[in-house]
Amino acid sequence: MDLDKLIQDRIRDVADYPKPGVLFKDITPLLADHVAFAGVVDTIVNHHGRGTIDKIVGIEARGFILAAPVAYHFGAGFVPVRKKGKLPARAYEETYDLEYGTETIEVHVDAFTPGERVLIVDDVLATGGTARAAADLVRRGGGDVVGLSVLMELSFLHGRDKLGNLDVHSLVTV
Ligand code: PRP
Repeated sequence: MDLDKLIQDRIRDVADYPKPGVLFKDITPLLADHVAFAGVVDTIVNHHGRGTIDKIVGIEARGFILAAPVAYHFGAGFVPVRKKGKLPARAYEETYDLEYGTETIEVHVDAFTPGERVLIVDDVLATGGTARAAADLVRRGGGDVVGLSVLMELSFLHGRDKLGNLDVHSLVTV
């Protein structure tokens, strides 16, 4: 099976999760398949090219799983963007809208040095609120956001429209 087909095959649809009427895209079968998991990491690294990135930002929680091995293979540092209240030192915060209510994410104020080239990695781009808030956090911290790589883009939610001219790279488009 070629890699694109394998990756798509290992993303499982779960009906009515987390609430009735939602078709959830479950990546745990993909993560459990070492060929598919490694293929995702390698594809992200190869898209950008080793040596071109200083820091990889991973977004809690599923984003961490992909971002950490990407950082390792790039030879880049890893920076967590976490949900409010989880980071121990002084942090910037950004609040954004969800379908119902709001979410707040944070990054340490000293996570970046000015001008560092930063790639944001997450599992899913849906409405784009999380990615936009993460990009805003990186810029507040002095980083230069060079792109966003996601495993899956739910294109019907038009998340890209919130991200201006940011380079968005997705492996699977739904
Ligand atoms: C999911 C996903 C992205 C975000 C995308 O995270 O991992 O980070 O939603 O949605 P958006 O484009 O509409 O903002 P979630 O908040 O479910 O966190 P989790 O990874 O901790 O489950």
